[in-house]
Amino acid sequence: MATQHPSADLWPLYDLVVRTPRLELRYPTDEDLAVLARLPSEGIHEPDRQPFHVAWTEGASPRREQDSLRWWWSQRANWSVDDWSLSLAVVVDGGIVGVQDAMAKHFPALRSVSTGSWLVRRAQGHGVGAEMRAAVLELAFRGLGAREAHSSAFEWNIPSIRVSEKVGYEPNGEELTMRGTTPDRTLCFRLGRDAWSARQRPDIEIAGLESSLALFGLGPDRQPLG
Ligand SMILES: CC(C)(COP(=O)(O)OP(=O)(O)OC[C@H]1O[C@@H](n2cnc3c(N)ncnc32)[C@H](O)[C@@H]1OP(=O)(O)O)[C@@H](O)C(=O)NCCC(=O)NCCS
Repeated sequence: MATQHPSADLWPLYDLVVRTPRLELRYPTDEDLAVLARLPSEGIHEPDRQPFHVAWTEGASPRREQDSLRWWWSQRANWSVDDWSLSLAVVVDGGIVGVQDAMAKHFPALRSVSTGSWLVRRAQGHGVGAEMRAAVLELAFRGLGAREAHSSAFEWNIPSIRVSEKVGYEPNGEELTMRGTTPDRTLCFRLGRDAWSARQRPDIEIAGLESSLALFGLGPDRQPLG
């Protein structure tokens, strides 16, 4: 298939897009990353409700934006078959409103992914969070042949927990983790391939993945490359 992005012949992830009836997840260009880096200044969470383990939303401008860019660029630079982190821009009605992440270690052997996400506040509470999780799960299970997906959230983060429940995850234990410098309880969730199969979304389109499969250590049949 012809590549869309001018550098996709060298870095095929640039062509990766997952489309649902409501939104698109796309591999971000540098211009997309600049839009994403600026979004937290509009607000992602209440000031006293930091939902992330690292308080990256709280830095002063322009340091915060620069740190975010460095983080996403480091994901590209450090990508490997056995340790990758894929941040996809969430696009609704043509505008970027957040990030849907998928991460995995030793994916060709373990077939297990973890996810994380955030939306700018104006985009929250309208079902976008559940739809973008469904989209990344299609990418993981149908696109990459995952066996299971994991997610976690602080026990008070009801929207995140509800999203996991709505798309079919089951509770998978809890642990005490650090939220910045404070211990806080994290609830863990797991979705197995069988449970995903019962709820899969054929209306979600995955485009531009085939040329990226080698970056995930997979052949066209989704089996590990030799
Ligand atoms: C978590 C997040 C991505 C979810 O996206 P979203 O678009 O807001 O979620 P949705 O609208 O798809 O679903 C949220 C669900 O939580 C429910 N919910 C939200 N606040 C709630 C509350 N205080 N009590 C009970 N349910 C609540 C909603 O009703 C909805 O469930 P429903 O469809 O069954 O009614 C988004 O809220 C966000 O970016 N939050 C800040 C960053 C964050 O917490 N990221 C995750 C870190 S683990």
